[in-house]
Amino acid sequence: MADIRLDKFLADAGAGTRSTVKIIIKKGRVTVNDVIVKKSDIKVNTEKDTVCLDGKKLIYNEFEFFMLNKPQGVVSATTDANDKTVIDLITEEKRRDLFPVGRLDKDTEGLLIITNDGKLANNLLAPGKHVEKKYFASVEGSVTAETVKLFAEGLDIGDEKPTEPAKLTVIKTYIEDSGDVNDNIISDMTRGDIKSNIEITITEGRYHQIKRMFKAVGMKVLYLKRLSMGKLYLDESLKPGEYRRLTEEEVKLLSEK
Ligand code: URA
Repeated sequence: MADIRLDKFLADAGAGTRSTVKIIIKKGRVTVNDVIVKKSDIKVNTEKDTVCLDGKKLIYNEFEFFMLNKPQGVVSATTDANDKTVIDLITEEKRRDLFPVGRLDKDTEGLLIITNDGKLANNLLAPGKHVEKKYFASVEGSVTAETVKLFAEGLDIGDEKPTEPAKLTVIKTYIEDSGDVNDNIISDMTRGDIKSNIEITITEGRYHQIKRMFKAVGMKVLYLKRLSMGKLYLDESLKPGEYRRLTEEEVKLLSEK
């Protein structure tokens, strides 16, 4: 990394906003290579210079990556007038340029990557890259072999083009509170009583895509959770609303197809 302004260094390192760090610098709380610096616009080298705030060394990373288990009720945006955002859930001192990689619906849970690396986000989201996103869903009704075939062929969900082939796997079909379905009794049940747990892998990220795909075959998604994006899987030890930084290995995984 090259030379950057001292106030940008501090803001990127999570010391505050660009304007608050200017005040911090003016107060003489910042040293560069052990010398107090009171000007915000001096240039520092992110690799060679040692920048301290109140005597504590600041670590500069050009890019940061978090894995969030997005809970329901939170919007995938950086700011929102009414709702809590996924960025609000990153509770530690954080840089201001973080954003979510793509969107999950307000009622969808699961893996969401939060970063300031626009290039990596683009590579994961660009339609031409066909990065696989795997979801778990609970749907109303019974997913048949015919449904699986229709998803594999691509569906007309009202867009210009049909969806790309999606892989649909049935985990179980059941009647709520009654255990697994016995084939003999399915016919006696109303359709609404039967539910299916499925996994679905898609390579696009259209608006409400999975819900609209099920709607196209007359079914309704009751619960949706993203499990993976490319080769990165959700750390299941993270409860909804919890997050952690990605390891270096995980960041590398994201760049692989
Ligand atoms: N498909 C949907 O319908 N919603 C999501 O949040 C993600 C994929």
